[in-house]
Amino acid sequence: MNQLDTNREQWNTRLGFILAAMGSAVGLGNIWRFSYVTGENGGAAFLLIYVLCIILIGIPILMAEFTIGRKAQSDVVGSFNKLAPGKPWVVAGILGVASAFIILSFYAVIAGWSVFYFIQYLIGGFRTTHADGYGGFFGEFISSPIQPLFWQFLFMAMTVGIVYVGVKKGIEKSNRILMPLLAILVIGLSIYSMTLGGASEALSFLFTPDWSALTNGEVYLAALGQAFFSLSLGMGALITYGSYLSKKESLPGAAVSVATLDTAFAIIAGLMIFPAVFAFGIAPDSGPGLVFVTLPGIFENIGGFGQVFGLLFFFLLSAAALSSAVSLLEVAVAYFIRKFDWTRKKAAIIVGAIIFVLGIPSSLGNGPLNDISIFGLEILDAADFLASNIFLPLGGLIIALFIGWGWKKADALEASDFGNTGIGNAWVFVLKWVAPVLIFIVFLASTGLLDVILGWFGVES
Ligand code: TRP
Repeated sequence: MNQLDTNREQWNTRLGFILAAMGSAVGLGNIWRFSYVTGENGGAAFLLIYVLCIILIGIPILMAEFTIGRKAQSDVVGSFNKLAPGKPWVVAGILGVASAFIILSFYAVIAGWSVFYFIQYLIGGFRTTHADGYGGFFGEFISSPIQPLFWQFLFMAMTVGIVYVGVKKGIEKSNRILMPLLAILVIGLSIYSMTLGGASEALSFLFTPDWSALTNGEVYLAALGQAFFSLSLGMGALITYGSYLSKKESLPGAAVSVATLDTAFAIIAGLMIFPAVFAFGIAPDSGPGLVFVTLPGIFENIGGFGQVFGLLFFFLLSAAALSSAVSLLEVAVAYFIRKFDWTRKKAAIIVGAIIFVLGIPSSLGNGPLNDISIFGLEILDAADFLASNIFLPLGGLIIALFIGWGWKKADALEASDFGNTGIGNAWVFVLKWVAPVLIFIVFLASTGLLDVILGWFGVES
């Protein structure tokens, strides 16, 4: 063990750790990404696959990340090197650091939009309605070459600021108040949104599956990617957070609480967005701008106090995004601190600056770089697709296989706090077989290869 490892900081309390993990999980993924991806993939059938992904794959891998992190007490790469020296499992760590760079690069762009909206409400900008409505307002904002960059920069600077001070001082406390407030606001707004006239359409969109959507393999990949993204899974964010945990805590309860809260947040956010989407006649599949066009309409409908709710909402959304962004940056920073012996301050600033620069093309993709498309997607969407739908599930696959096959079962059971119990054995079994096979099938299905293989056996999908 080198000296840095013995000097690593620790969460103050078990609650502090759970709050930090929740702060990482709950963010733009639950509100911005969940609603637009659900809208694009047809609603209820997608939602069902998403929840199955959370239960069968997400929670077991969440437990796996906590277990690896607490056992190894190191960053993503260091954890694999320590637990399995010289073995190829460390690929998951390297992939994780790469994913942190990519995800935070575009995450900061969207978070910047949220901060911009907050400021608009603060200065009363939304009271003067744009000639083409909120869609026009939003479109004009994101296509400007400078404005989104400025807010992205500001958001990255705040993220760096928190990581610079240290995870414990920086985030352990801030979420204690802000997250419950966001929850109350989202619940209140979803009840209000139901009164706008789109409730029955929204409920059937979200809860009455159109099974024909399930013949499209890409829906499964979208659901899997969303599950990983929303739970902050597959790139070691929770390995890193687990590594700041002392040996005393009990992990399974923490994993289930984080996943339950995160999923409830997403579904309630859906109940807030979709009734309004249908009431205002917005297309559910209108893409990443969905919440930025829908929410201001809700606030306007509320009338006088609506502006205050708008201000509060975008403030809390930005704060939730900040605690998620911190966990992304921390993955890379923890790695650079150990690997290159940098101080925390130096690592936070350098890595943060690189990620800001990496995010510039995503920001400009709606403006000056509008014509560029990668795999038929805009730059930001392409970065999101690559990291969320490919890298995260791949990282998760390796993490599952590592516990299932790379560790002795008795060691895994002990390190996880499950002990030799039925549920512990079920957990190892899921990581060994169920999750890897499912992830593999989803990858196959999304490439269309599954159809080809099923065709050999005479099965038509
Ligand atoms: N889960 C966060 C959200 O829903 C985003 C996030 C934070 C994340 N850390 C992550 C996503 C690590 C993937 C991996 O907004």
